[in-house]
Amino acid sequence: MPAKPRRPRPRADRNRLWGGRFAAGPAAIMAAINASIDVDRRLYAEDIAGSRAHCSMLMAQGIIARADGHKILKGLDRIEREIAAGRFRFAQRLEDIHMHIEARLQTLIGPAAGRLHTARSRNDQVATDFRLWIRSRLDRLDREFQALQRALVAQAERHAATPMPGFTHLQVAQPVTFGHHLLAYVEMFGRDRDRARDCRARLNESPLGAAALAGTSYPIDRSATARALGFARPMANSIDAVSDRDFALEFLALAAIAGVHLSRLAEEIVLWTSPGFAFVRLSDAFTTGSSIMPQKRNPDAAELVRAKSGRLFGNFQSLLVALKGLPLAYGKDMQEDKAPVFEAADTLGLALAATTGMVADMKADARAMRRMAEADYATATDLADWLVKTLELPFRQAHETTGRIVALAAERGVALAELALADLRAIEPRIDRRVFRALTIEASLASRGSFGGTAPRRVRTAARRAKRTVG
Ligand code: ARG
Repeated sequence: MPAKPRRPRPRADRNRLWGGRFAAGPAAIMAAINASIDVDRRLYAEDIAGSRAHCSMLMAQGIIARADGHKILKGLDRIEREIAAGRFRFAQRLEDIHMHIEARLQTLIGPAAGRLHTARSRNDQVATDFRLWIRSRLDRLDREFQALQRALVAQAERHAATPMPGFTHLQVAQPVTFGHHLLAYVEMFGRDRDRARDCRARLNESPLGAAALAGTSYPIDRSATARALGFARPMANSIDAVSDRDFALEFLALAAIAGVHLSRLAEEIVLWTSPGFAFVRLSDAFTTGSSIMPQKRNPDAAELVRAKSGRLFGNFQSLLVALKGLPLAYGKDMQEDKAPVFEAADTLGLALAATTGMVADMKADARAMRRMAEADYATATDLADWLVKTLELPFRQAHETTGRIVALAAERGVALAELALADLRAIEPRIDRRVFRALTIEASLASRGSFGGTAPRRVRTAARRAKRTVG
């Protein structure tokens, strides 16, 4: 029989349905979607720390031979040095950081490497690594929040008595001091630090030894590995240990809330540096120019902090959605937990550093702040209060009378204290010259001496106290 002409065969590695545009076959696509190494390589130090603790425990429990254990520990040391020095080869094929380190260990020490994964799974391994990573990031975050608080407190001390108009509805409300306003942010970032501390305390339990999900038949010592890694105790339930990501959610939630705080401050800096306010001047180091308008001093860093808070909210949302409805225990969906956390950590760190820089360097313009406070009748409430306290008018009537006085000042284009006594008397005949003392910004500030109020003496004490609590 004559041989049939050979038809060109379709490339075996190409999917007939959707492979047309792909040079690589489904195996490569699978590897691409499956690989997390580009993200989770940041866990290398934590992965090695976890492996060290696990290996030492296996040796102590007689689960692996001492000689093998020592080889493993030496190999891990070397791998850590290689990665730290950028001398380590990463490849998509090896999926994640855990496989990379194990494969390298195999090359370095041979079959003994295979004993490290006894009584362990990547499921408890990755949960352990991730907790360790977030724990140390939280510790650093505390110092970053602290640096910002210190910059704010230093400005607050400088400006404990510097008047600025306080706002509600972004309309001039009552005089406050610039220091008092800045200390409000010190409180906010203090709560952020508290949240980070809470998160740290709750995450500090060890999943290691939960293995895939059910625990293990080897006589492991979970308390020993927990202790070695600085965890307070082993997690109580092996299924929870491998499926829980509350600690990542809490981290993202606290980052998102800090993002709210940072963006509010950033927005105020944008307003304050705009010529309509001109309350604050940023240093050249934190200002950019325009390529076309030579007069411009743009607060780009503040605008970027304002915008970057959006990423923090998005990252929280993205992990909430990834975890929602996931059946217990581990699912590969959970591999998607790291990117949002790393991104949030980087974004928050950068936003904090930029805000600290802006705050530390900024120069307040006390004259501009006072000008707006006076021009926009910030002491109108003080006038009404004077009418109540001195003339014993009912507050509602005092409010009405003050309204008419403000309208007159507005008509004349003068500050309240610039009106003539006769003009005031035309509206309320019993007013006498003592009223002028109540109309000054200084009198208004000094009068608000209630606890937590803006009186300069209160602000000075508050700044001193803040200095102590900020550390
Ligand atoms: N790269 C994985 C992750 O980050 C590690 C755990 C893999 N576990 C598994 N059963 N495939 O989640």
